[in-house]
Amino acid sequence: MNVLVTGGCGFIGSNLVKYLRAQRPSWNLVNLDKLTYAGNLENLRALERDPCHLFVRGDIGNRELVDHLLRTHRIDAIAHLAAESHVDRSILGPEAFIQTNVLGTQVLLEAARHAKLSRFLMVSTDEVYGTGLFTETTPLAPSSPYSSSKAAADLVSLAYAHTFGLDVVVTRCSNNYGPYQFPEKLIPLMVANALNDRPLPVYGDGSNVRDWLHVEDHCAALTLALEKGERGQVYNIGGNSERRNLDLVKTILSALGKPESLIKFVADRPGHDQRYAIDASKAKRTLGWAPTHVFEAALAATVQWYVQHRPWWERIVSGEYQRYFDTQYAARLS
Ligand code: NAD
Ligand code: DAU
Repeated sequence: MNVLVTGGCGFIGSNLVKYLRAQRPSWNLVNLDKLTYAGNLENLRALERDPCHLFVRGDIGNRELVDHLLRTHRIDAIAHLAAESHVDRSILGPEAFIQTNVLGTQVLLEAARHAKLSRFLMVSTDEVYGTGLFTETTPLAPSSPYSSSKAAADLVSLAYAHTFGLDVVVTRCSNNYGPYQFPEKLIPLMVANALNDRPLPVYGDGSNVRDWLHVEDHCAALTLALEKGERGQVYNIGGNSERRNLDLVKTILSALGKPESLIKFVADRPGHDQRYAIDASKAKRTLGWAPTHVFEAALAATVQWYVQHRPWWERIVSGEYQRYFDTQYAARLS
């Protein structure tokens, strides 16, 4: 199988690329990533000489490029992860979210339709449901520019299945954690700040609840959805590990041996969703998927990963990581 992975240099994308190389070694992967601030080619250093992984720097909104990749690499399926993914950034500047998440997705769908691909996996999010406990039939009620742009992309993808017969499968997953998450998101940000004895900014009163899933469990679900998902179907993916933000932050501090006095309650995120809780029984029943990581142990291992990989996130904080493509990667190719 030849698979085009979009956003393969981000947090989940780079974990998925490595997961697929290990679990589906006969698959050829083309990784299309624009390398926005969130894309980090260093995440895939281990695959630099891998003949079954080709990195292409480019925008999913570039139809000509997408057509060219689908044709020349005889792509069978697209795993679409590229997105602007951070809620706070979407509040500061929604435009890039509409551009990439909505219009970029539509470009990919149109290219996939014309190339008659056999599968289009749309990696959506549980945030499309708004706040509460979600099954796949819960009406969508997104609240942020990020989640509304994902909801638009999610629904347009399903429309391509219904109207054009494109073999679309949609997954809606809860909050991921694990290695290589950009340190603007809750867990890596709190670990980095705690290690530097800087304040840990908790929004509001810290009572918001998220359902945490280890990124490898998400990758396993995405692989099964690619292989076994049914056209036009939506699959919720969740970790059954709901935690209040404040409790999670305290657990991180305790794992690092740092005092709770580092916690600083700050102004709440505008439109902050109170709770995400997901019923993933359909994916378990129909895809044969189940999470394997136990939250407490996997969170402790994740915290240790950031302790041990301090240079990785320090290079992000300093901006050095963005020079890797020009100074080392491109030079190595020439
Ligand atoms: P991320 O921000 O870490 O990575 C996004 C990647 O997409 C980056 O490598 C970036 O360079 C690339 N990208 C952005 N715009 C692009 C464009 N126009 N063309 C090509 N590449 C572009 O995101 P993530 O946390 O890994 O999330 C990946 C996907 O999974 C997203 O679609 C997100 O909505 C979804 N998702 C994330 C979570 C989570 O907890 N992180 C949960 C559920 C769903
Ligand atoms: O549910 C899936 C979604 O999870 C994905 O679709 C998004 O791409 C991903 O970013 C994530 O969204 P959240 O907004 O839930 O993640 P974030 O890590 O930004 O925040 C988690 C919770 O922690 C949320 O309630 C806000 C809070 N928070 C976050 C930050 C960055 C804080 O209290 N302080 C912070 O500094």
